[in-house]
Amino acid sequence: MTLRCAVLASGQGSNFGALLERQACGDLKVEFVLFIGNNREAGAFARAQAHAIPALHLAPSGFPTEEAYAARLLDELDGHGVELVILAGYMKKLPLAVVRVFRHRIVNIHPALLPAFGGKGMYGSHVHEAVIAYGAKLSGVTVHFVDEEYDHGPIILQRAVEVLDGDDANSLAARVLSAEHASYWQAIAAIAEGRIVIEGRRVKMKSDKVTE
Ligand code: GRF
Repeated sequence: MTLRCAVLASGQGSNFGALLERQACGDLKVEFVLFIGNNREAGAFARAQAHAIPALHLAPSGFPTEEAYAARLLDELDGHGVELVILAGYMKKLPLAVVRVFRHRIVNIHPALLPAFGGKGMYGSHVHEAVIAYGAKLSGVTVHFVDEEYDHGPIILQRAVEVLDGDDANSLAARVLSAEHASYWQAIAAIAEGRIVIEGRRVKMKSDKVTE
């Protein structure tokens, strides 16, 4: 059975695009059964439509309460038989009710090496500006499970990227983004292939399927 995935994204969706490419070439054996975006004009939305993936426009602002928004999200995820939720540049905070129902079944990608340069307000160019201003020599990519706190859940995979002397936020963002494209699918493939063991905060990625 292929893992049934939903992708949630707000922006251009280049990470989503990279996942679609890996799926097309057979490296990533999952099914994208649902796309949810909060911005109809975003590139990610167009990618979903181009691949005939059911695409839903849902914005928290369209609901009277967080509970109502959470109920709708859960309804859609359940209705589409979603097993894994993939955040790919999703700029809205997921309601706690969704995080709790989908514990260890929501993944996120962050453009720095957590726990450094993460948390509230650390998104987009803010992250890369902060890395450069701090004088860090390494930045990178973190793929992690989502828990109740921003950028805090158990880390599945990290990949380091060098910060160069001449970097500005744009050049660093571009180098990190290409590392994101090379990394995200690997974490998702490991989940899809049953190669992940979670022990508290520690996530072990095995080379073979875990049977116990
Ligand atoms: C990426 O840098 C990702 O780490 C962050 O949001 C950005 C999304 O980029 N969570 P894209 O829309 O996938 O190009």
